Amino acid sequence: MTRLALTAAVLAGLTLPALTLPVLGATVPPVNQEPAKTECSACHMAYPPGLMPARSWKAIMSNLENHFGEDASLDPETTKKIEDYLVANAADAKGYGGIMRGLTAQDTPLKITDMPWWKWVHSEISPTYFQSKRVKSSANCTACHFSGDKGYFEED
Ligand code: HEC
Ligand code: HEC
Repeated sequence: MTRLALTAAVLAGLTLPALTLPVLGATVPPVNQEPAKTECSACHMAYPPGLMPARSWKAIMSNLENHFGEDASLDPETTKKIEDYLVANAADAKGYGGIMRGLTAQDTPLKITDMPWWKWVHSEISPTYFQSKRVKSSANCTACHFSGDKGYFEED
């Protein structure tokens, strides 16, 4: 499908075809660790660690009490287990150059949606669509990527 046809299919509320990341040169696996899988999917899909650098995950995990307007804090032991997993499987730890592209050493995005790669692959989608009633937020990946929390944008 062309880029335009794909976008149109999403706009019509249809499922996106299962996606890999050929354009970014990475196949990012879903969250496959407990307790991360359970604890980090209580309010949104469990975001795969390979979509941000280790320093971003460290920053998020060090401030779970003030997590995007929510208190997502956990006991220290659980927090450490999750942080270790996220850091070990981060984009830079795994050598996902495409995911890291455009990010300077000074940048520590706290959102996947602030990552240059994310903006780049979604640049043709109207901002108003992300705020629409159906989608609500650009962080709501599964509104458009229906297999997003299972096989992450992969055939499963
Ligand atoms: C109590 C609810 C809650 C829990 C539990 C929670 N989060 Fe969140 N998280 C949120 C909210 C709310 C947002 C903002 C979503 C939005 O902008 O639409 C968010 C956003 C995020 C984002 C940014 C998404 C983006 O690109 O905009 C990341 C990354 C994230 N959470 C990671 C985690 C991790 C890691 C855990 C587990 C340790 C976790 N969250 C657990 C509520 C939660
Ligand atoms: C409003 C619907 C929508 C939301 C929400 C959304 N996406 Fe997308 N995403 C798309 C569309 C449509 C494309 C294809 C863009 C194109 O080809 O023009 C895409 C492309 C992608 C790609 C590239 C796939 C490839 O093969 O190049 C990835 C990876 C991706 N999105 C991840 C995410 C993540 C992670 C989130 C949540 C933080 C998210 N998306 C939120 C609609 C959305």
